[in-house]
Amino acid sequence: MSKISLSDLGFIKNCIFEAIVSTYNIKNLPNAAPMGIKTNDMRKLIIKPYITSQTYRNLLSQKCAVINITSDPLIYYKTALKNIDDCDVISDWFEKADQVNAPKLKNADAYIEVRVTKIENKKDRAKVLFDVVDIIPVKITPKAYCRANFAVIESIIHVTRIKVFLKNRRKIEELTNLVKYYDTLVKRVAPHSIYSKIMEENLKRIEDWKANKRIN
Ligand SMILES: Cc1cc2nc3c(=O)[nH]c(=O)nc-3n(C[C@H](O)[C@H](O)[C@H](O)COP(=O)(O)O)c2cc1C
Repeated sequence: MSKISLSDLGFIKNCIFEAIVSTYNIKNLPNAAPMGIKTNDMRKLIIKPYITSQTYRNLLSQKCAVINITSDPLIYYKTALKNIDDCDVISDWFEKADQVNAPKLKNADAYIEVRVTKIENKKDRAKVLFDVVDIIPVKITPKAYCRANFAVIESIIHVTRIKVFLKNRRKIEELTNLVKYYDTLVKRVAPHSIYSKIMEENLKRIEDWKANKRIN
């Protein structure tokens, strides 16, 4: 067991942190998706996946996962809004974890290997409790903060929620306006960057939906 703790990774009680949960499906094919992670006691971790998500299905069958710690917007983007083209790119990002039957993302800053202890179903979202099996830090290089990081990740959350609220026009408009707000910020602090490109793609996805096309 690692000498580092959840608090060393910045976790505090009763606060939602974002990370990427990676799992295998029943055929041992890797999957990854951003999820909010919480701890109430600094020992167990909790996530609330939609029961329609692949992550939820994989947790039901495999009973373990890796929580990949990262603040890289590109990783959030590629794992949240997966489409057919991305699958090839993403499959190269995985390697097997050490102590649980789950994949981990090679480019994460730290890994928390976890085992499911309980799954509660509540309407459209489940509550999954994990025991921590091991914590493995990888990178310690400090990263400079750019406001676009935060704005892009917030926008990706809103875009994935648009997928969930497809039938609720008012909610879609509300979420679209938030994405547009963050787009303005990203254009200002990171024009012509990978971040502004992700924002363009986010807005295009939303427009495609409005034109009744499929959102990936
Ligand atoms: C930062 C961030 C946090 C998210 N948190 C959750 C969450 O807590 N629960 C959830 O079901 N979806 C969450 N999502 C959306 C899922 O990542 C998204 O729907 C994804 O496509 C699910 O993939 P899967 O079907 O492979 O599990 C989040 C997205 C982002 C960008």
